Amino acid sequence: MEKMLDLISKEVQDAFSKSCYNEKYGKVTLSNRPDLCQFQCNGAMAAAKEYKKAPIVIAKDVAEQLLESRIIKEADPVAPGFLNLKVKESFLVSYLRQMREEENFGLNRDKNPKTMVVDYGGPNVAKPLHVGHLRSAIIGESLKRMGTYLGHRMIGDIHLGDWGLQMGLIITELKERQPQLPYFDLSYEGDYPKTPPFTIEELEEIYPAASEKSKKDQFYKEEAMEATFLLQKGNRGYRALWNHILDVSVKDLKKNYKALHVEFELWNGESNVQDRIPAMVQSMRDNGYAYESEGALVVDVKEERDTKEIPPCMILKSDGASLYNTTDLATIEQRMEEIDPDEILYVVDKRQELYFEQVFRCARKTKLVKDDTKLTFIGFGTMNGKDGKPFKTREGGVMRLEHLMASIQEEMEKKIEKNKNSVGEEMGETAKLVGLSALKYGDLSNQASKDYIFDMDRFTSFEGNTGPYILYTIVRIKSILSKYEEMGGRLEGNEIKEPSSEGELDMMLGLAQFNGVVENAFEEKAPHKICAYVYELANGFNRFYHETKILSEKEAEKKSSWIALLLLTRDILETNIHMLGFDAPERM
Ligand code: ARG
Repeated sequence: MEKMLDLISKEVQDAFSKSCYNEKYGKVTLSNRPDLCQFQCNGAMAAAKEYKKAPIVIAKDVAEQLLESRIIKEADPVAPGFLNLKVKESFLVSYLRQMREEENFGLNRDKNPKTMVVDYGGPNVAKPLHVGHLRSAIIGESLKRMGTYLGHRMIGDIHLGDWGLQMGLIITELKERQPQLPYFDLSYEGDYPKTPPFTIEELEEIYPAASEKSKKDQFYKEEAMEATFLLQKGNRGYRALWNHILDVSVKDLKKNYKALHVEFELWNGESNVQDRIPAMVQSMRDNGYAYESEGALVVDVKEERDTKEIPPCMILKSDGASLYNTTDLATIEQRMEEIDPDEILYVVDKRQELYFEQVFRCARKTKLVKDDTKLTFIGFGTMNGKDGKPFKTREGGVMRLEHLMASIQEEMEKKIEKNKNSVGEEMGETAKLVGLSALKYGDLSNQASKDYIFDMDRFTSFEGNTGPYILYTIVRIKSILSKYEEMGGRLEGNEIKEPSSEGELDMMLGLAQFNGVVENAFEEKAPHKICAYVYELANGFNRFYHETKILSEKEAEKKSSWIALLLLTRDILETNIHMLGFDAPERM
């Protein structure tokens, strides 16, 4: 379905050309003075120069042509030459009716669907999932869902950090603690035990302990580096141990991401592409892209137009070891071979921006990607505590995601209990859903690149620009609808009719913007635009609700129209929050 704004623009463009002005001046935008009009066209000002006429004269000519319009109700020329516009209720109503009938509420799926890989999550194996990785998961999941809704083939890849020094550290620490394990016996030739020699809790204690030690003890650190090296060279015992670490850790990660309603299509990791590194590096050498510099192997990536210094991309260290870069490049190579995406999106902490700039340039220069393959970095800011510093536990440690979620749930339970609408098990489930909305909406409603403050009280509040407020609004609509049914009403067969109040009209105007908003939000990779839209719709509905006695309305026709409008509002809200990555309960 054509976007409402496009239909209005066309109408006004037509009027420009009928009054013998170039139609290019007829572009219409949403009004920035909603108190005066719904839409506006500022084209007469620009046209004035071309036609050497006063803008107001042009605006008046155009307004004249719009008198007979089926779409425009009022076109008001205002000094110095604005055209203030209102649409006809009949047009709006038929637009909404069509939205209700069409698939995806009239949103046109992309005619040329793209294949996009979303690289998000990026947790490091054996390190507890903490809030630092939370933003990537939340934002990435939302972008993926938005893309899917628009008809693209979206493939999420978690890109596990499963190959670095942290592995060597864990192996070294285990060796200190349990030297008798067969993994450390070089002469051992039998099968290794099936059960891992640690639990997830132990694993999560081992890593920080080892990391601490390595900072103080140079010898220990060297041992960990040696262990990493042996693992990467394929030492049998270490490989077996590494598999245990991966199994235990991935199981825990899966549980956590499930609770977050985050789902990855691919569980690939840094380790998956190590085999292809030697050949990739060789070809970079052979083609003259990579050269030795101070012992290391590098590819120059600076360009003439650079205003700041972009250092070369390092491919191998002087000891021949590969780096984070090398792995990312090999991953690009693999994705091109196996998936051949049109675009790869990286949802990563914005402090890695320069790093990705180097990687992207290097991938382009060395022809790992096609000329038209897009590589996009979506950098996000830090989630801070109320003190403005990166979010920590009360004790000052790294907050485990699980604990954060549990405390949000607890807070929600307290609040929901007061409403007395759900009990027992249902309440726990509801608190989880509402808690998730608090966490995700609190994050997504900010522009991704900005830092934000995690404020438990504000995020879990049922009032203001919060997830729980949005859910509360949806639940309110659902409850009206089910009361209507209890009173013998039927949800099918109702039709939206012309609005009987300003509030209702506003709501209708809001709903009609759905396709435009979603398209634009994905175009700009900006879930916060969906949040802003959802918030506006929720406010619109609540205003209407407070002004209107829906269920006790005597006029059947009016009531039926409102029910249809409520159904559409509920559906549009639910579709949007699903794209944000959470859903609404039936009651709360
Ligand atoms: N594991 C990395 C980290 O914790 C994030 C991975 C981001 N993705 C990537 N392709 N490099 O910083």
